[in-house]
Amino acid sequence: MERELALEFARVTEAAALASARWMGRGNKDAADGAAVEAMRAVFDTIHIAGVVVIGEGEMDEAPMLYIGEKVGTGESPQLDIAVDPLEGTNIVAKGLTGAIAVLAAARRGCLLHAPDMYMNKIAVGPKAKGCINLDAPVEQNLHEVARALGKGLNDLTVVILDRPRHQELIDQVRACGARIQLISDGDVSPAVACAFDNTGVDIMMGVGGAPEGVLAAAALKCLGGEMQGRLWPENDADVERARVLGISDINRLLTMEDLVKGDEVIFAATGITSGSLLEGVRFTDQGAYTHTVVIRGKTGTVRFIKAQHRFDKKPAYAMKGARK
Ligand code: FBP
Repeated sequence: MERELALEFARVTEAAALASARWMGRGNKDAADGAAVEAMRAVFDTIHIAGVVVIGEGEMDEAPMLYIGEKVGTGESPQLDIAVDPLEGTNIVAKGLTGAIAVLAAARRGCLLHAPDMYMNKIAVGPKAKGCINLDAPVEQNLHEVARALGKGLNDLTVVILDRPRHQELIDQVRACGARIQLISDGDVSPAVACAFDNTGVDIMMGVGGAPEGVLAAAALKCLGGEMQGRLWPENDADVERARVLGISDINRLLTMEDLVKGDEVIFAATGITSGSLLEGVRFTDQGAYTHTVVIRGKTGTVRFIKAQHRFDKKPAYAMKGARK
């Protein structure tokens, strides 16, 4: 994948972030999501790729844009799998909380797991703790191994967990080990990626969240040399069937990094919508806005943090879709 695509993908997540940030705190998560989708879709079609959305806004008949199977880009090669979450953390934006991002991952065709829209049990760490986690091992063992790999005491370790009743046992077990916990209201992609950076204060992400979000986070961790393991967490027979249709016959299989994201021809891009551990949120000015984006290339491992200053009076109309309302 050409290195120039990294900047193109950064422009895609910037546009989505700019559009949905307008809706921060306005209590309307659907409008915030719709604006992000519209903006992301418009910028995608200026890019010279033959992309197919493999993780997106839902099935064709449920989602008007960025549905699974939709083609994005001008149609010229390279042929890519595209995973998107134009607004990861709809409730976060609706309430003006921290940690919402616009995010995408692109990989060679056939290299991203076509994860169904259901839950996945996940554990994620950065490169220093790669090889030290096992989703099937007791919580205590994982925490000890990761603390040892990071050269930290257990009581200095920070575990990020979604604040959900389903996680009470996990929370109790982490507390019993003496590790610190950051409970988040929503948005588990950003903290999973943050595990790979020393200065974010986040060491492990654990628990059950969205499977599509799992693949997005895995794409970033693949580029960064970190690790995620996952297992689909069906709630009913319909989930099992949905997975089967997407080619996952053994729903109980442990999904490794290579199952989630094959190879290293991957690009990951995310722009902050509201500030979080990894990225600053959008800040509007008299003339436009500032954005903060991370874009990572798997092939070289290069991580670029891009602080951009946008002039709304000079931007082409397609890049401003959804941003002016
Ligand atoms: P949305 O952006 O679709 O609202 O998802 C946010 C999110 O918090 C994800 O980050 C997480 O993986 C999932 O929802 C958790 O699902 P649930 O809210 O059902 O526990």
